Amino acid sequence: MRKKIVAGNWKMHKTIKEGIDLAEDCIKLAEKEKIKEVEIIFCTPFIHLRKVSKLTADFQNINTGAQNCHWEMQGAYTGETSCSMIESCGASYVIVGHSERRQYFNETHEQLAKKVDAVLKQNLTPIFCCGEPLEIREANTHIELIGKQIRESLFHLDKETISKVVIAYEPVWAIGTGKTASTEQAQEMHAFIRKTLAHQYDFETAESISILYGGSCKPSNSKELFSQPDVDGGLIGGAALMAEDFIAIAGSF
Ligand code: 13P
Repeated sequence: MRKKIVAGNWKMHKTIKEGIDLAEDCIKLAEKEKIKEVEIIFCTPFIHLRKVSKLTADFQNINTGAQNCHWEMQGAYTGETSCSMIESCGASYVIVGHSERRQYFNETHEQLAKKVDAVLKQNLTPIFCCGEPLEIREANTHIELIGKQIRESLFHLDKETISKVVIAYEPVWAIGTGKTASTEQAQEMHAFIRKTLAHQYDFETAESISILYGGSCKPSNSKELFSQPDVDGGLIGGAALMAEDFIAIAGSF
């Protein structure tokens, strides 16, 4: 059985107090709603990781993650944060290759492959993001691009190691736009990603990997999206900044 995951990507939002309040409210609601079968992850800015990880420590199905990392474990890289530092905060996940980092910080397939390795070496779980911009979708070359993103940053991993990766499909045109991929579009891409994994590795390996959908996912569409056979949960942006919405999404399986 693949893990069901709802991860909130807080992006560059929330001061310390606001972040703690949000995490506390989410945890309270998750408890009230008795959400146990879904893994809930707070992917916070670095400043929150330690404190929020302490809040989640008592809950087996609630964890934290970072939104980025450097591929070296330490060194003269001003402003960067390593996976050993992230792990020392109590986090379990790291988002790698979010489209905003590809777009605004020019992250390349090669750099992302190195980040994936660094995350895994630290025994953390990468949430590897892929997704196509609008012009690629309109040119109908999105399948090729997603295949390339997966191949170039993940296919150096062996079978056992890739099983530890979580993949998030986030069409760039659906991020923060209010324009969600239709359930058919999401399922089509998730099935394609799984087929690509099965082709490179094998059926069992592909079946074991959780593939999350991201892009304007909210309580009103999460149930339908998560009911698709290859959609194992969501990576949530805007709706993760409101406890009620985020936990409603987590409760919609
Ligand atoms: P939105 O849910 O705000 O569209 O953001 C999705 C996302 O980028 C999550 O990583």
